[in-house]
Amino acid sequence: MVDKALPAGVRYLPRFLDAQAQRDLVALIRDICRDAPLFTPVMPRTGKPFSVRMTNCGPLGWVSDRDGYRYQALHPQTGRPWPPIPAPLLDLWSGLADFPAPPEACLINWYGEGARMGLHKDSDEAEFAAPVLSVSLGDDARFRIGGVERKGPTLPLRLMSGDVLLMGNESRLAFHGIDRLYPGTSTLLDHGGRINLTLRRVNPA
Ligand code: SIN
Ligand code: FE2
Repeated sequence: MVDKALPAGVRYLPRFLDAQAQRDLVALIRDICRDAPLFTPVMPRTGKPFSVRMTNCGPLGWVSDRDGYRYQALHPQTGRPWPPIPAPLLDLWSGLADFPAPPEACLINWYGEGARMGLHKDSDEAEFAAPVLSVSLGDDARFRIGGVERKGPTLPLRLMSGDVLLMGNESRLAFHGIDRLYPGTSTLLDHGGRINLTLRRVNPA
């Protein structure tokens, strides 16, 4: 079982969302992107663009620019607050996160063909007792997860549309990333690609 080989604290729920739930989420995300357009973040200091495009919903959104990584209440380009987190995602969090407060940020990552995400840990939050809850939609991707040290061994896991994965407890600060997409493996998105949503609690409950 692939589950057993995953680092402690990782909870993997393959195909947790059925096809209809996935389509409903995509429609909600399209609405969010109309209000809060996808943007291309750049790396702190170097200004090198990410290969994924992103936006957020929730009271806070995660952004990266030359000044660093941070959470902020306003979209960096429109200057407007992020749209609210849709109810189905809040329900998913209350059912799975085992945390007494709602998520404050939902990062929406859009991967086109060739996009990837280097190994990193999610550590810009002030509350690590809450897990990071990830939802995958669209094309399959090779996710990689390791331990809390960058140098440690890592494990690949093929994430598919409808998969939910939680990094909590021992794995809350685990290094993870996306090696590659498998283009054409899903028909969920009209033009292919992959959407990953991560729900995060930023401030202490
Ligand atoms: C992330 O770590 O922000 C994204 C992970 C993923 O795309 O599955
Ligand atoms: Fe991450």
